[in-house]
Amino acid sequence: VTPALPDLLPPTVAAVESFGEPVDAFLFPPEEAHVAGAVDKRRREFAGVRACARAALAQLGMAPAPIVPGHRGAPTWPAGTVGSMTHCDGYRAAAVAHGGDVLSIGIDAEPAAGLPPYVLTTIALDAERTMVADLTAAAPGTPWDRLLFSAKEAVYKAWFPLTGAWLDFDEARIDLDRAGTFTATLLVPGPPAGGTRLTGFTGRWLHRDGLLITAIAHQPDNSR
Ligand SMILES: CC(C)(COP(=O)(O)OP(=O)(O)OC[C@H]1O[C@@H](n2cnc3c(N)ncnc32)[C@H](O)[C@@H]1OP(=O)(O)O)[C@@H](O)C(=O)NCCC(=O)NCCS
Repeated sequence: VTPALPDLLPPTVAAVESFGEPVDAFLFPPEEAHVAGAVDKRRREFAGVRACARAALAQLGMAPAPIVPGHRGAPTWPAGTVGSMTHCDGYRAAAVAHGGDVLSIGIDAEPAAGLPPYVLTTIALDAERTMVADLTAAAPGTPWDRLLFSAKEAVYKAWFPLTGAWLDFDEARIDLDRAGTFTATLLVPGPPAGGTRLTGFTGRWLHRDGLLITAIAHQPDNSR
């Protein structure tokens, strides 16, 4: 029980992780309505990650509030806040910040197991496949293909609140490094950012206790 999402994010971001089911995973009526017909697994991850989100919002001094899926499934955060959520087997996490401190957040967690080969072909650019092969040869203990996938999911979650638009897997190139950081270079025009356009993101990753976690906090004075 050691993955440490807060270590991947700046101190202005409140991040809360949960391993297993939080006991106080209640839902507000509009949230409840969203999962009324869902299977139990989906209900539990939906409620559990919202318990993390409310705990993180409390660290910012915010009262508990509903976090309803909006356009294309993106969570609707309380006014003045930004955030991101992720869940996979045995893990839920949320990260939130005041909008004045951070422009958008993207976090993703995946089980630390290789991707089926056809998935890598679908999600990776040629340069990324070469990078994954090189990293796998140099450091075979980390499933670099799955880490690439996770970084792309984190990029999409950070991109979406800025644009409200889809971003395809081949529209950002990820460069992973062994030290625990990564960059994403946008291959399509980014949203306006301080008189210019956003060209990419930087993020951090960790591989610990069977989990891969990626995190991006896109800060105002940092055009990447
Ligand atoms: C939406 C998506 C990123 C979710 O990732 P995932 O690994 O399947 O699932 P996770 O558990 O990590 O994350 C799910 C959470 O993401 C959040 N989410 C969903 N859609 C989102 C969006 N459009 N923008 C931001 N966050 C979103 C939600 O909080 C969701 O949890 P909830 O439904 O319980 O509220 C993924 O399903 C997807 O559509 N990916 C395709 C787009 C993409 O990755 N492009 C690559 C660009 S390089």
